[in-house]
Amino acid sequence: MDAIILLLPVLFVLLNFVEVCNGGITSSFVRKLYASEDMPLSDFPPPPGYNAPEQVHITQGDLVGRAMIISWVTPLLRHPDYVVYWAAGSKHKKHKAHSSVETYRFYNYSSGHIHHATIKNLAFDTRYFYELGAGNVTRRFSFRTPSKVGPDAPYTFGIIGDLGQTHDSYQTLEHYVSNPKGQGVLFVGDLSYADNHPNHDNVRWDTFGRFIEKCAAYQSWTWTAGNHELDFAPELEEDVPFKPYLHRYHVPYKASQSTSPLWYSIKRASAYIIVLSSYSAYGKYTPQYAWLESELPKVNRAETPWLIVLVHSPWYNSNNYHYMEGETMRVQFESWFVKNKVDVVFAGHVHAYERTERISNINYNITNGMSAPVKDPSAPIYITIGDGGNVEGIADSFTEPPPRYSAFREASFGHAVLEIKNRTHAHYAWHRNQDNNAVVADDVWLHNRYYYPEEEV
Ligand SMILES: [Fe+2]
Repeated sequence: MDAIILLLPVLFVLLNFVEVCNGGITSSFVRKLYASEDMPLSDFPPPPGYNAPEQVHITQGDLVGRAMIISWVTPLLRHPDYVVYWAAGSKHKKHKAHSSVETYRFYNYSSGHIHHATIKNLAFDTRYFYELGAGNVTRRFSFRTPSKVGPDAPYTFGIIGDLGQTHDSYQTLEHYVSNPKGQGVLFVGDLSYADNHPNHDNVRWDTFGRFIEKCAAYQSWTWTAGNHELDFAPELEEDVPFKPYLHRYHVPYKASQSTSPLWYSIKRASAYIIVLSSYSAYGKYTPQYAWLESELPKVNRAETPWLIVLVHSPWYNSNNYHYMEGETMRVQFESWFVKNKVDVVFAGHVHAYERTERISNINYNITNGMSAPVKDPSAPIYITIGDGGNVEGIADSFTEPPPRYSAFREASFGHAVLEIKNRTHAHYAWHRNQDNNAVVADDVWLHNRYYYPEEEV
């Protein structure tokens, strides 16, 4: 009996330890570890033909999905500088839109002619064909516009981050493309990883553009800037941040009254997407802060029930890589997200996968000690999905024990699919790259915070 009494404090400590460690699932799946290397340049050949248009990609061109920015590169000549397009079934009624054309230099690299043409007044939920180039180097593509913005308009997003151009990147994109459900991609930053090559070899921006064309020419990609878009290299006398990225990837930022393409928003079907920049100023009085402050009250959840935020550096992440790099932005904006009942925040940067519970950490005031995340039904779920598979490899070191806010985490490459069904339900699934197959390793039914704020199980 005495022994049991003596052991009680030990038991008490042990039980508490179990309680503290109850932090969700750390997946036991172990991917094959091998060196990540960018695929050779020869694996990304330009399309055949003299001055053939290449690196074709499309992005929503207005606030609601009735315009599309068509972007491409002609390597040698500026012309032809237009796109011809028509709605399926109306080939006799072709339209033509001219592109703005720009070039840039980066150290010893000179870009091709970079075209951006915005085609407007498109019908909703309609297939369009478009052609670039002329004569025997004409290339034809197509896309489908989203449904009219409305609370029950279904839409399926793919979510991809930190993609790069390795064999792992290739698998990730193949897996997404092979799923016929995906209608548009939410990209959470870090595109080409050109800056990992000597002198930020911008040829790697060209090969990345060719790599993603098989998807990005056919569905709208929503772009977020990551740290690998900075290309800030004063040692090369290249001191203008985001130079290659901003020349190559245009977004409709003016449609949401933003003053910078690095932060903006769009509506798409029943979703309102807000894109933020981790690498632009966001303190009080800065342009990004002022824009977000005025933007959140504009979100009408009766029209777009699903409020989604994209940002590169995660606010909640229990990986040792990039630990707490997103902390100052979290402190600045988290209370706004809770107040406005953001449904989900997607981030990249950490090259692994993690999903959190609905939690917030907004009550701390320096003296009250309330500095731990707590369950909060008004808070977003935070998903870190920087696992596209780039040249820097996997982030395979999680903090131990897992924090209580972490619902699922795994050090593998992959992508996710978010199927918005109606105003109350969306199915979210993360697909791991596993032995050349895409395997659903984590999925959850999301309940809309405005129309159905019940706890997810
Ligand atoms: Fe990053």
